[in-house]
Amino acid sequence: MSTLTNKRILLGVTGGIAAYKSAEVLRRLQDQGADVRVVMTRAATEFITPLTLQALSGHPVHLDLLDTETESVMGHIELARWADLILIAPASANFMARLAQGHGDDLLTTICLAALGPIAVAPAMNQGMWANAATQENVTALEQQGIKLFGPDQGLQACGETGLGRLLDIEGIVDLTAGLFATGLLTGKKVLITAGPTQEAIDPVRYISNHSSGKQGYSLAAAAIDAGAEVVLISGPTSLEPPDRVKIRRVISADDMQRAVMSEIAECDIFIGVAAVADFKPVQSVDQKIKKGEAPSNQVMRIDLIENPDIIAGVAQLDSRPFTVGFAAETENVVTYARRKLEKKNLDMVIANDVSDQSIGFNSDENRITVIWRGDPDNEIQLPVASKRNIAARIIELIAEKLPA
Ligand SMILES: Cc1cc2nc3c(=O)[nH]c(=O)nc-3n(C[C@H](O)[C@H](O)[C@H](O)COP(=O)(O)O)c2cc1C
Repeated sequence: MSTLTNKRILLGVTGGIAAYKSAEVLRRLQDQGADVRVVMTRAATEFITPLTLQALSGHPVHLDLLDTETESVMGHIELARWADLILIAPASANFMARLAQGHGDDLLTTICLAALGPIAVAPAMNQGMWANAATQENVTALEQQGIKLFGPDQGLQACGETGLGRLLDIEGIVDLTAGLFATGLLTGKKVLITAGPTQEAIDPVRYISNHSSGKQGYSLAAAAIDAGAEVVLISGPTSLEPPDRVKIRRVISADDMQRAVMSEIAECDIFIGVAAVADFKPVQSVDQKIKKGEAPSNQVMRIDLIENPDIIAGVAQLDSRPFTVGFAAETENVVTYARRKLEKKNLDMVIANDVSDQSIGFNSDENRITVIWRGDPDNEIQLPVASKRNIAARIIELIAEKLPA
């Protein structure tokens, strides 16, 4: 099992002799379970064909910024949002210069400009080009922008010279890529996460539920695993595969979920209540299917509802309680209601999202959130639209930052 399992990696390939090695980088990332898409610069296509990388990745290779067809399928902004990581291997001296200066004059540089997640570059060039003062200034600028550098390596070069500038060996690139996801921020911590909807039975075939897909909770479980935590995921009914190394407990109703939470909460350091727990359940769930015409009236079917237990408030009231994080899915006054929830339920942190926006939230792969926490004056941060995986990684970073020592 690898931290790269199910990670979305955008592999950027630029124009240099080492471009042929990008095919092997792609394969090794796939071996570790990553989903890889490829963007090539025009110069790169002189060194290795898009067809090769398309066949290996199983997806179209993206080449042009100003292409009406690809923009309507998966354009530059979508690709930037899709990626959990952008890895440019090999990165030419020219590409590094353009990246350092914030150019957006081709597809790959524009995607990097739009990216919200991490970017890593694996330089490959002649030793003289690497040692050049301009390249070194660009390296410093990239590092200052938070861009990771993988290599370069020392040794004999394609041009016959020896020195620093070779592409780092492929195993090294893959290891460093995996390492980016293994943050270690929550090493030694136990994290309990609830996810998905709950189903409240009316009779053996019908239930009350909601549109929660579970994607954000499952992404958080994966991000917590990457951060080194021991993770228990208590999930309502979803169609999602649980992340590797997560202990999964499947439940149906809010009552089931509460029992499962309370049986796992001891020695938990962090509780993240992402599940969209149904607020109400039928007062009575009947044993046999309710037949048409058997309702109290022929015209009106009445189901009396009663409030479900408030799972997160129950956790926050425990004497020895974990760092407790709630989600506030609202359709209006999102931040105001979220702040109220933080206070009322005595939470440590609340993640507010606007579920009235159909393009984000419940069933979407993307989200836009505001994180609010207790304790210091600047206690609010807005995260712009990004994949639920990227959002999850940021939330885990914030939790690790705010967790009492
Ligand atoms: C045969 C050949 C090999 C090259 N190898 C490299 C290389 O290894 N690294 C590099 O930075 N540039 C190399 N270049 C120069 C780049 O191809 C050139 O700077 C190009 O504009 C890079 O475009 P890109 O950054 O948009 O991919 C090479 C050029 C040629 C003709």
